Amino acid sequence: MKLSIPDYIASIAPYKPGKPLDELARETGITHAIKLASNENPIGPSPAAITAIQHALTDLHRYPDGSGHALVVKLANKLSIDPGQIVLGNGSDDIIGILTRALIRPGDEVIVPSPSFLMYDIMVRSCGGVSVVVPLKDRAICIDDILAAVTPRCKMIFLCNPNNPTGSIVSKTHFEKLLASLPRDILVVVDEAYIEFVRDPACARSLACDAEKNPIVTLRTFSKAYGLAGLRIGYGVMSKDLADILHRVRQPFNTNSLAQVAAIAALDDDRFLQKTIDMVHEGLDYFYAELTRAGIAHFPTQANFMLINVGQSADAVFEKLLHKGVIVRSMRAYSYPEYIRVNVGQPRENQRFIQSLESVLLRS
Ligand SMILES: Cc1ncc(COP(=O)(O)O)c(C=O)c1O
Repeated sequence: MKLSIPDYIASIAPYKPGKPLDELARETGITHAIKLASNENPIGPSPAAITAIQHALTDLHRYPDGSGHALVVKLANKLSIDPGQIVLGNGSDDIIGILTRALIRPGDEVIVPSPSFLMYDIMVRSCGGVSVVVPLKDRAICIDDILAAVTPRCKMIFLCNPNNPTGSIVSKTHFEKLLASLPRDILVVVDEAYIEFVRDPACARSLACDAEKNPIVTLRTFSKAYGLAGLRIGYGVMSKDLADILHRVRQPFNTNSLAQVAAIAALDDDRFLQKTIDMVHEGLDYFYAELTRAGIAHFPTQANFMLINVGQSADAVFEKLLHKGVIVRSMRAYSYPEYIRVNVGQPRENQRFIQSLESVLLRS
């Protein structure tokens, strides 16, 4: 059998996630490793979410509510928006896929800052779209450069705020300038996967702009601050008209029943959310202090992870840390061949990371 695969599909480099702990144990026999590679919650899931899942287990023979009604209503109340403006997804990854599938045709241009979250480019290309790559300036998204890249074929712009992997933000002023300067038929997709961790008051919050009046989609996830990455649940906020289109192309049961009840419970667990945010901020302050003491170059961040300049091959440092049981992310695939990205863990994990990094860098 000889399948004909379009070039735009065959040329996509598969997304490489952070190395799972089980995989490391299988490959190297290293147990008791720590994973600081996927910007997950260092605490675990919310206990309220676990209880909600336990109660829902006996209904697993039923299909989920395909509309996710209870979760949608809960989110709409919390965000003071119309429930019709919310589309749930199997992680926010799913919403990126649904959006591009619904709106991007072969040859359409989509502006993708780089480096940023790799799934934007993958999803655009999987529809035959053209990613117009706009390089970051000083590790931050430059709105003027984005505006300069707009052509009549541009259909969509991705903004990751804060940006993965740099932790930089788009300010409210720059975001408003972008919206005011763009043609109204270009959709701005603002990915706020890490917004809960932001401390800088200048950061844009896209939900402050009415998506009924502006061509904006906000992406949010339960995978990071809410600690539910394994369940796969996220959502998009947009105009009701656009949501209606996305509902036509999404899978009918794209969020599972356990994820729905867990997300509802997690939204009520304010104590857990605050504990997570406090732990991330304390961990970041510890990283800043320790990396400065050790003379290791690093960059300020508004997310739950940070970039560190290891001044040598990031892949080599990644491997050496791996053999010490510390999983981070080499940024080579993100065009930073000498940077690693590490997310905040529990205090003991943070200490182990700093000690391991110092010993790897001192010995090289
Ligand atoms: C910026 C950004 N957006 C989206 C995602 C995907 O999140 P989800 O788990 O909701 O699919 C990630 C995951 O790392 C991310 O970093």
